[in-house]
Amino acid sequence: MSRETISVERVTTRASCEEFARLPYQIYAGREAWWPPDIQGEIEMISGRTHFASYLDLEPFCARRRGRMVARVSAVVNRRYNQHWNDSLGQLIHFEAHEGEEDAACAMLKAAAHSLGARGMTAVRSGFAAFLDYPYVIDNYGRLGSFLLRSNPPYYHRYLKNSGFEIEKGQTDYTAELTPEIRARYRSMTEAARAAGVAIKSWREFGYLAAIDAWTEVTNSAFARHWGWNPVTLDEVRPMLMSLWETPVADLSMVAIIGGEIVGAVFSVPDLSPVLAQVRRGVRLESMRGGGTRGALINIGVKEQARGRGIAAAMAARSYLAMAERNMRYAGYTLVLDDNWASRRTAERLGARITSNFVTYRMNL
Ligand SMILES: CC(C)(COP(=O)(O)OP(=O)(O)OC[C@H]1O[C@@H](n2cnc3c(N)ncnc32)[C@H](O)[C@@H]1OP(=O)(O)O)[C@@H](O)C(=O)NCCC(=O)NCCS
Repeated sequence: MSRETISVERVTTRASCEEFARLPYQIYAGREAWWPPDIQGEIEMISGRTHFASYLDLEPFCARRRGRMVARVSAVVNRRYNQHWNDSLGQLIHFEAHEGEEDAACAMLKAAAHSLGARGMTAVRSGFAAFLDYPYVIDNYGRLGSFLLRSNPPYYHRYLKNSGFEIEKGQTDYTAELTPEIRARYRSMTEAARAAGVAIKSWREFGYLAAIDAWTEVTNSAFARHWGWNPVTLDEVRPMLMSLWETPVADLSMVAIIGGEIVGAVFSVPDLSPVLAQVRRGVRLESMRGGGTRGALINIGVKEQARGRGIAAAMAARSYLAMAERNMRYAGYTLVLDDNWASRRTAERLGARITSNFVTYRMNL
């Protein structure tokens, strides 16, 4: 096919926003199981109608071949990221593309990167932005990925590298099997924390709404120097988490308190694959991947002054015990930077093993 049949466009009309949001349905439709996007949420985001809008300058692009959309990406200037890190980094989020469309995808990625350069950015990242983008998987292709994480096809790496990107960071995803032996170890971890004067409470015990605010405060403090992160606000976190108060999230998520001060927080979810994943009829998911038996710890943070005392391990252990009580047999420990040894050691103490690997890309302009 010749290059002339390819066009790269800004996505501006309501109809093309909808086409943009629905593209993953074509790319992943052949899968036995996958996590479909929140179409309405994406349309709202690319049309600038979200809580994030005031922090983001977002420009959606697509590539078409003879009129048909074959690739999409959003070029983002994330002002609060750049303010926080005193950086001028642009981000390419929402990247998806059809197989066999390398020319179109590369033309689009280059055009999107160029638009970020024109807006003063000196580098571009794809595959990590707080609440906005997740890294690209490099193994377990075609299988149901962990909740929230990408399950991209392998050819995405070719498209990104042929557009000039290089790997910036590696990440891993862990899984622990909740065996009787490991659960006994978790009980002694939580007991040791209690004996040391650390109270660990579920969000339901603490008060769900107060726990959302505590999570936001702890996360902004614990992640202040965590690569890739930027501070988040109560205005955006409250509406995101409020709706989950009647779900097991309230029993699986934890806070840690010492002498009345909140020093740590964990956000965990039950197995959401029965309600959110698209699973082909007749397909039974492996129990460590979903189908009602895999919970996941999504985020964990301990304030600096309270670190190195087993608080992270104790909060995660209580969260995993609560998962086991609800018949989950596996627990994810989601997305750890390869060089985040404090977190990797925590995962290892919980008996978790690496089950998936990811990368984030960067291009210096
Ligand atoms: C990761 C984090 C939650 C750990 O909290 P914590 O309460 O200090 O953790 P624990 O005391 O339970 O255990 C930490 C383990 O990491 C080890 N550790 C701590 N810093 C380390 C470092 N720089 N290099 C290697 N190991 C380190 C500790 O020795 C301990 O291992 P051990 O039990 O084998 O001795 C905390 O460091 C944090 O909030 N970091 C910033 C946010 C973050 O990275 N969150 C995780 C994202 S995936």
